[in-house]
Amino acid sequence: MATLLHLDSSLFPESASASRSVTAAFRKAWEEQHPDGTVIYRDLATAPVPHLDAVTASAGFSDPAGHTPEQAAAFAGRLELIEELESADAVLIGAPMYNFTVPSTLKAWLDQVILMGRTAGVEASPVKGAPVYVVASRGGSYAPGTPREGYEYVQNYLRAIFVDMLGMEVDFIVPELTMAHSNPAMAELIPLAETSKAKAHEDAVAKGKAAAAKAAA
Ligand SMILES: Cc1cc2nc3c(=O)[nH]c(=O)nc-3n(C[C@H](O)[C@H](O)[C@H](O)COP(=O)(O)O)c2cc1C
Repeated sequence: MATLLHLDSSLFPESASASRSVTAAFRKAWEEQHPDGTVIYRDLATAPVPHLDAVTASAGFSDPAGHTPEQAAAFAGRLELIEELESADAVLIGAPMYNFTVPSTLKAWLDQVILMGRTAGVEASPVKGAPVYVVASRGGSYAPGTPREGYEYVQNYLRAIFVDMLGMEVDFIVPELTMAHSNPAMAELIPLAETSKAKAHEDAVAKGKAAAAKAAA
């Protein structure tokens, strides 16, 4: 059975969120190809996963057979998130840029699922080669050649995590300049923002279909 893991992390509801509206378009395209497929959904903004703490982190570095009851309980929560990731044919993530990087709720999820010896640091990781589609919305533009290019810590960070640490394949959809409508200083960029938004929605549908075609029947 085809499985999509869908995470959103925008602070705002879909009606006011660039990333949520694009992840919704991707998911709809995916679901049309897999009406009986499974979508595991997590809204990390409204239901954040816990930050790693000393108990949970130390449980990840020690033999489960020797876990204290406290470590075992904390580790079970971590395993639930890891198993969701491992079960997915494709992962879809809404990752708006907040203060140059990903929302802290998405970072907390990543810290939970990156487990050395299981999802990371091993040749035969169960997540190796799985596709991750990231909708990286941002108020400005950090495209190559723009003045803020060097401040781009969403795509650069997530590429390092998903490709270099987890061995997954990452693909980005980037609705940019989303603040052009609300920031008068960016008014002249509205046409570019509209073009970016339209392209993001087109890309979401195309990539949602492509991800569905790759998934198990
Ligand atoms: C707390 C906060 C911090 C932000 N920081 C940045 C930033 O560093 N760079 C940027 O281009 N836009 C920034 N923005 C604008 C968002 O990236 C933009 O609104 C984008 O559309 C967010 O995706 P969303 O609409 O799905 O929430 C910020 C917005 C918020 C709420």
